[in-house]
Amino acid sequence: MLRVVVLVSGGGTNLQAIIDGVRDGRVTGTEIVGVISNNPGVKSLDRAEAAGIFHTCISPKAFPERADFHRALLEQIDALSPDLIVLAGFLVRIPEELIERYDGRIINIHPSLIPSFCGVGYYGLKVHEKALERGVRITGATVHFVNAGMDEGPIIAQKAVAVEEDDTPEILQKRVMEQAEWILLPQAIDDIANGRLSIEGGKVRRKG
Ligand code: GAR
Repeated sequence: MLRVVVLVSGGGTNLQAIIDGVRDGRVTGTEIVGVISNNPGVKSLDRAEAAGIFHTCISPKAFPERADFHRALLEQIDALSPDLIVLAGFLVRIPEELIERYDGRIINIHPSLIPSFCGVGYYGLKVHEKALERGVRITGATVHFVNAGMDEGPIIAQKAVAVEEDDTPEILQKRVMEQAEWILLPQAIDDIANGRLSIEGGKVRRKG
């Protein structure tokens, strides 16, 4: 069983897609062993509770220094012994130490076709605001391994989504989630859990 820890910040619709995938048998060989939020009282935590998954909040605001937050986050993750860490709408920069310790075992979902609309300042709804401002006709989502760069790790999968006339950031966000994110992320976890996908020498390798 692939032990998966999911890091979240908000609504947790991607978390829900993973939970549903595991429950429906679209994601096999996988156990979600914990959900960690940096924000208290978010819907993600309710979703974990409803699914009977261990969940906790580790908020940077609860610590005097950033380093203390990082230490607490790492300790909690280590305690869950994950094989894979999934950033599912985790809108906090993750500690370098975490990236080093779990090198090749962290994946992220981003709501654009990387390298467009990514990097510092591009997260959540802002990504869609910028895409609409720029007037692109196609956007989408990307699942990638996480490295020390911001949204720069090796790309696992991407899916394009059309931008429609009169889209608002909210409407576009929902379409990108429905047509791309909620499909790509569970699929990537299933591929990793079943040995069809790995990272070797900084490159994504596919088997079968
Ligand atoms: C998702 O659209 C995810 O791709 C995005 O935040 C949203 C979280 O929604 N992540 C990023 O922007 C990361 N840079 P959710 O909490 O409903 O899954």
